[in-house]
Amino acid sequence: MINQVHNISFPISEPHALDQDEAYFILKENDGQTKVRFHDYDRIYDRPGLYEQLFYQRLRCASPRKARDLLEKVLQDNRMDLSELRVLDLGAGNGMMGELLDAARVIGVDISDHARLACERDRPDAYDAYYVTDMCHLDAELAAEMKSWQLDCLTCIAALGFGDIPVRAFANTFNLIRPDGWVVFNIKETFLQESDRSGFSMLVKHLLVSDTLQVHHLERYRHRISIDGRALFYYVLVGRKASDISAAVLDDLPLD
Ligand SMILES: C[S@@+](CC[C@H](N)C(=O)[O-])C[C@H]1O[C@@H](n2cnc3c(N)ncnc32)[C@H](O)[C@@H]1O
Repeated sequence: MINQVHNISFPISEPHALDQDEAYFILKENDGQTKVRFHDYDRIYDRPGLYEQLFYQRLRCASPRKARDLLEKVLQDNRMDLSELRVLDLGAGNGMMGELLDAARVIGVDISDHARLACERDRPDAYDAYYVTDMCHLDAELAAEMKSWQLDCLTCIAALGFGDIPVRAFANTFNLIRPDGWVVFNIKETFLQESDRSGFSMLVKHLLVSDTLQVHHLERYRHRISIDGRALFYYVLVGRKASDISAAVLDDLPLD
């Protein structure tokens, strides 16, 4: 149970020129006040309760629960149950998604050791194992160890695009999941627009129409609010993996 309350405030308005990955808040502590970018996760994770206070209490993030509920619904429609699955949670952070997953096994992976330590501190029971590695550069030995968990579900929540998890990290993780495994992720709505030519947008659009993934559910919903109270809409996708993302597909994408 985390009950530490931090003194945080937001700039009066979120300039529209400010990309989501440039958003920041002001953190007042004994030694003065500092501007902390939303993507400065390590500084946020280091302070118990700050991540939850910022994204979940103030900015009303609904995504882990939404994704978990839709996964459960799709599984039910397919006469399956979450308790049968062995999940890999990519961009696990301090365990917000992991703690909601009542699965046979839940494995977390994140690039940041600060995230692992925060998870160990705040949600020690969220994962059966927690790996710290950059999934862009997964070495063969670790890939084999992760595969040995016989993973048949990938979750990746509030972590794709905007300078977070890059295309190659997502593809490498997708390819660790067994064929027929379930895949759940959310993305900002603009990623599905034709005009978005970023690598991640192109990969997601490819997944929607290729034989790599069978889409079971795609839904637009309010992910959270922005600093100035506007609704930020995302899509959540639940699908079933048919095959790996091929090297040829990846080679054709801008790797942003
Ligand atoms: C916004 S947090 C999301 C945390 C959690 N899924 C949640 O819903 O609260 C994104 C996480 O992705 C992790 N991340 C970014 N790049 C990564 C990479 N290449 N490999 C693994 N994790 C990465 C970050 O360290 C961060 O903890």
